[in-house]
Amino acid sequence: MASTMVQLHEKSKAYDWDFTFAAPKPRYETKYKLPKKGKDPFRVLIRDYMKMEAEKDDRTHGFIDGAIRTREFTHIQPRFMEAMKLLLPLLTNAEFQAVAACGMIISTVDSQELRQGFTAQMLDEVRHTQLQMALRNYYVKHWEDPAGWDRSQPSLYKHPAGLVSIGEFQHFNTGDPLDCIIDLNIVIETAFTNILLVATPQAAVLNGDNALASTLLSIQSDEARHMANGYGSVMALLADEDNVPHLNQALERHFWHSHKALDTAVGWGAEYGSKLRPWSYKTQWEEWVVDDFVGNYIDRLGEFGVRAPSRLAAAADEVTWQHHTLGQVLSAVWPLNFWRSDAMVPADFEWFEDHYPGWSALYQGYWEGYRALADPAGGRLILQELPGLPPICQVCQLPCTMPRLDINSARILEHGGRRIAVCSEGCEWIFTTWPDAYRHRRSFWERYHGWDLADMIVDLGLLRPDGRTLIGQPLLDLERMWTIDDIRAIGYEIKDPLQA
Ligand code: BEZ
Ligand code: FE
Ligand code: FE
Repeated sequence: MASTMVQLHEKSKAYDWDFTFAAPKPRYETKYKLPKKGKDPFRVLIRDYMKMEAEKDDRTHGFIDGAIRTREFTHIQPRFMEAMKLLLPLLTNAEFQAVAACGMIISTVDSQELRQGFTAQMLDEVRHTQLQMALRNYYVKHWEDPAGWDRSQPSLYKHPAGLVSIGEFQHFNTGDPLDCIIDLNIVIETAFTNILLVATPQAAVLNGDNALASTLLSIQSDEARHMANGYGSVMALLADEDNVPHLNQALERHFWHSHKALDTAVGWGAEYGSKLRPWSYKTQWEEWVVDDFVGNYIDRLGEFGVRAPSRLAAAADEVTWQHHTLGQVLSAVWPLNFWRSDAMVPADFEWFEDHYPGWSALYQGYWEGYRALADPAGGRLILQELPGLPPICQVCQLPCTMPRLDINSARILEHGGRRIAVCSEGCEWIFTTWPDAYRHRRSFWERYHGWDLADMIVDLGLLRPDGRTLIGQPLLDLERMWTIDDIRAIGYEIKDPLQA
């Protein structure tokens, strides 16, 4: 009879066995060499794990019950809630892809210790998906404008920003499973989830959404375990120096891609979705990504040959501007959004200029023009004022206007007889190194080239139950909402910039 937790834990692993009569064929190939015996990233038995997680679930669901009874939702800033209609589905996709990632990793790694760690993670990621669906159920039933909440997951495939999430998080479970660990557990969970799941709850609370804050913090309490899975895996990989170049290359690739996707989406959600802002994204990034992740974590692995991402400085430069540019693009395409957009106003102008000196000269004029065209009575779209639709990056799926329209680093490549746009040197490197992972993607504009915007809106199902009014609107307090007839009267034709 095992007498201590350590013995009990070891005993649970004694149920593993080796094949003696046949060599098992790996379901997923890996180029890494992973030792069979590892260190336990998180020594916990399933029964203790279940008890701990059940208590966390009870608290979070209990909070939402209370929020319904106290009508918490009447205190949420509309701008914040509308932005979450995009941000939460982007996140739920990540959770779901992470569930699949764990299955793939468990099927690949031979180390019992890591398999147990990833089994717990898989259950966590299912829990996160469920918590987010429960939260969205609360919103769709109680938010003043449920339009968009009711279709947000399928909308990921029907909106350019949704494809950013699809493109980013499919890397959790495609390709080499140990590269997936570098992406999921090292880059995303150790570096980037902190801003999303620890810092964004502060913005949620300031903007009246305590239910979102409770949910995200409950999720983040599991991420510590996922970071430990990453650390345990990396320490095992570093036992063999042949793994080091692969690890560094995966780190380069996923650091850049994650920077593009997360820093734009989370920066936009936190700053352009907020009425009141607890911090600037740039300062959070410097704290969590530069100081904490690179300084305190990756740099300390330097003695084993692990290198900090070479594009760290390039990413830092872009973080100043790229989410502002995303705010511009997302508001410009407001008829395609499944949430109501909001215009930035003088109080926002002041905050942005204070926190991002130079912002006013670059963005304020756009927002003034945007507001001037918001009323459907004007019969004109901000889109008509722009030179055209932006090409979409074949890799990260962001508009090729980054980091800023006037200093964008877009480039056009010829590949297999097609013209392909990439947004940056980093995405060009990723595309040319792994073309097969990205070359089949068709851009959103390519699919609708030559269509009238009104037909595109109908095709995407972006109308409210009355069959006329758009889900997306350019302002929160319009006297009259835009209808499909208003859009049809304008006659805006979608032109794929790569064909035009
Ligand atoms: C997660 O593993 O829970 C996670 C992944 C990506 C973004 C946020 C959370
Ligand atoms: Fe998760
Ligand atoms: Fe996770």
